[in-house]
Amino acid sequence: MQIARTLPELRQLLARSNRIAFVPTMGNLHEGHLSLLRKARTLGDVSVASIFVNRLQFQPHEDFDTYPRTWEQDCEQLRAVGCDVLFAPDENTLYPEPQTFKLHPDARLANTLEGQFRPGFFTGVCTVVMKLFACVQPQATVFGMKDYQQLMIIRHMVRQFALPIEVVGVPTARADDGLALSSRNGYLTPGERAQAPELYAALRKVADAVRRGAQDFDALELRAAAELGARGWKPDYIAIRRRSDLQAAHGGDALVVLAAARLGNTRLIDNLEIDG
Ligand code: PAF
Repeated sequence: MQIARTLPELRQLLARSNRIAFVPTMGNLHEGHLSLLRKARTLGDVSVASIFVNRLQFQPHEDFDTYPRTWEQDCEQLRAVGCDVLFAPDENTLYPEPQTFKLHPDARLANTLEGQFRPGFFTGVCTVVMKLFACVQPQATVFGMKDYQQLMIIRHMVRQFALPIEVVGVPTARADDGLALSSRNGYLTPGERAQAPELYAALRKVADAVRRGAQDFDALELRAAAELGARGWKPDYIAIRRRSDLQAAHGGDALVVLAAARLGNTRLIDNLEIDG
């Protein structure tokens, strides 16, 4: 695996590539990221990963400073999975001047769910992803479905700007007990880690109820949030939405249930598509 720290280094490494498949990450890699890389390797002749903890997508009170940075371990894992090129710019390389020109995603998509609880988050994500796309110039890119809303917004951005990039979503990687893999799982205490699969269990319960014909989505959401609350979670949302645009669902829509909740000091997100 070759490592580029600067744009000229990256351009030189990628100069003779025909089809680049790109996986942007913030590092602290786990099996979920590696599954994205494995997919990327099937989509191009060169696979590129980036590691960049993007300050723009964190609010001042969030965990930018403490976000786990595990460089050696990340490089080892990327090598093992066969990643060809790692782009790892520092802040001055990616943002040589204050990034005042930002990309604001469609408000209907971006101001709900995660966007409601993390204002500005998707502006930060879109801005950095567009910039990384400009640096890497991929023909394909791979995102995890765990960040369902993020994937949807990136697809929208690529479509609306007519970027010649194929966007591929990969199903969420889970631990044996169902917990969605996430860099933030590392913040959990052993007791919280044992409890953490309750979030996915709550999603499954909602999905089962919908499959069995329940139609009062508000009541299902409230009950799921109350049950998690009774176990010590602080839910931000549990929401049944239509898959097409993440707006309120009506009969006949293809559905997804999404959740974000805090366990102790750790905020976890997860989702589950509800099969018809
Ligand atoms: O999903 C992530 O890790 C980040 O939001 C991304 C896409 C790498 C942008 O910083």
